[in-house]
Amino acid sequence: MNHLLSIDDLDRAALDELHALAESFLEVTGREIPKVPALRGKVVVSLFYEDSTRTRLSFETAAKRLSADVMTFAVGSSSVKKGESLRDTIQTIAAMGIDAVVVRHPSAGAAHQLARWVDASVVNAGDGRHEHPTQALLDTLTIRRHRGPAIDGLRVAIVGDVRNSRVARSDVKALALLGAEVTLVAPDTLLPPSLAGWPCTATHDLESVLGDVDVLMLLRIQRERAAEASFPSLREFTARWGLTVDRAARLAPGTLVMHPGPMNRGVEIAPEVADGPRSLIAEQVHNGVAIRMAVLWKLLSGGSGGGMVA
Ligand code: NCD
Repeated sequence: MNHLLSIDDLDRAALDELHALAESFLEVTGREIPKVPALRGKVVVSLFYEDSTRTRLSFETAAKRLSADVMTFAVGSSSVKKGESLRDTIQTIAAMGIDAVVVRHPSAGAAHQLARWVDASVVNAGDGRHEHPTQALLDTLTIRRHRGPAIDGLRVAIVGDVRNSRVARSDVKALALLGAEVTLVAPDTLLPPSLAGWPCTATHDLESVLGDVDVLMLLRIQRERAAEASFPSLREFTARWGLTVDRAARLAPGTLVMHPGPMNRGVEIAPEVADGPRSLIAEQVHNGVAIRMAVLWKLLSGGSGGGMVA
């Protein structure tokens, strides 16, 4: 494994291995000093061309907990403002000597391009509407930690702005690798134009799945990708596709509620549900650091076992 650009880069064994590694790193993150020397001397660049709170800090925390050095690139104060291209930017950074690049970019395929231009390992932290593989790894880890490692046959509904969501695409692929049954729930205008390549089914009717799913994942309405043009008003969206308090009360007992964040509270999810007992939202963030430690370690250590959590 040289890069992690898409869930397609993983087979079931590789996904299981990353989850097992993340379990060891969860143990590390619970220690009084949550840090191991595994990647001492390695340099990880965090290259974010889109806003981010949790993903950027999660990767940077993961790299630091592995004792790697972190170079943070902020588009707003960089030579991108002077017109420097993505290729020139990454080749300039790479010339300083780097081992991995964690990249988020508004264009689908940007991470794949970078992987052609540099020798370093590239991790896709979200490329446009395309993929966000570490989010899917942390989501599936979180589900397995609650439902046991075998989640084949588990019924998962992914609700909301699927069309604009890289999280949904990566989650569907990862869940399918694990044998879960996924249903997308959204108005036509927020579903992918075709389900070809999406190993799942789709419905418009949230009411019909409520009592019938083990996991309900909500997605943020992607306002920055003009999602609001796809339905009459946010109020109408919430009325049909929001997880309101009333709908949450009709979920089967034990149904888990997830959201990758950031949330539009009161739009796709009611605040009471987001903060309620079924919600795994904070746990998703917590598990994200361990997943990113697992990915960085796997890419940069050669993945050869020995001394990983020592
Ligand atoms: C997601 C993203 O950026 O794709 N956020 C995240 O990484 N946790 C989802 C979103 O922005 O809605």
